[in-house]
Amino acid sequence: MEMPQVHDESARLKQLVREKYSQIAQQDVAVNAASCCGATPSSKEVYNIMMDDYSQLNGYAQEADLGLGCGLPTAFAQIQAGDTVVDLGSGAGNDCFVARHETGAEGKVIGIDFTPAMVTKARENAFKLGYNNVEFIQGDIDNMPLPASIADVVVSNCVLNLVPNKAAVMTEMFRVLKAGGHFSVSDVVLRGDLPEELRNDATMYAGCVAGAMQESDYLAALQAAGFEEVQVQKRKTITIPRDILAKYLDAAGINAFEKGTTGIFSITVFGKKPGSTQRGVKAKVKLSELQNCRPNTGCC
Ligand SMILES: C[S@@+](CC[C@H](N)C(=O)[O-])C[C@H]1O[C@@H](n2cnc3c(N)ncnc32)[C@H](O)[C@@H]1O
Repeated sequence: MEMPQVHDESARLKQLVREKYSQIAQQDVAVNAASCCGATPSSKEVYNIMMDDYSQLNGYAQEADLGLGCGLPTAFAQIQAGDTVVDLGSGAGNDCFVARHETGAEGKVIGIDFTPAMVTKARENAFKLGYNNVEFIQGDIDNMPLPASIADVVVSNCVLNLVPNKAAVMTEMFRVLKAGGHFSVSDVVLRGDLPEELRNDATMYAGCVAGAMQESDYLAALQAAGFEEVQVQKRKTITIPRDILAKYLDAAGINAFEKGTTGIFSITVFGKKPGSTQRGVKAKVKLSELQNCRPNTGCC
């Protein structure tokens, strides 16, 4: 079958990301574990440095942990029993199942991902775990298939860096949050410029590094989207191992990069939608009415 031509740069990047994460969803976790944000087999170090240990968190489901996160947003998200939580770029459901532990049976968790294979895997996991209040829907987080003002809390783990139009995602986060609701998002950001060779590489893009924004611009964009109390809850330095750098730079380039001022960080950021909290006000959404919700798949 002839593939449609992708003319637009943003669509090209999204297609690249979807293909990479589709491959990751269908391959063995051990292969992902040897990847930069799960993108291609390479040094174990970036993976180890980016990821955090989830296994101690309540609600942790090993089969949903593909080793793709770069923080623990749910640990900072102040989720309460009964909350409706939306997870952006939910992958196999890793953060959703931890969030479900916090919301309890009376809350709701909705994961959104635009990679069909990830959504399938997440639904299988929800089904195995027997949750009927954790829903996975296929959709683009820069244009979410969700009504406005349904979420008490939005979380996301290592995803916005993959989206070409991050401002659109932030606007959508604001729209789906209830007044007084908040988000906790882990992401990769930069201080200083990456060398051009890294910036232009597809693997580095899908690996969560090349698409990262400057930290100051990232925080300013959240404020521009309308959020208040924007603050970094945790910051961690990410060091790209030499064997990965060597794919892009010669020895002099590696030295210059290592001695330079460019920093790559994983940050977990908090922000609040203005207004008094509407926690406890029932979200006007029925899981069974959400797009792509299929009965007997762990949702509805
Ligand atoms: C690095 S993985 C993180 C997965 C998950 N948050 C975790 O920590 O296990 C990024 C995920 O975001 C999804 N993604 C990337 N861009 C997206 C977009 N524009 N809309 C929805 N999902 C997206 C990918 O399909 C992938 O599953």
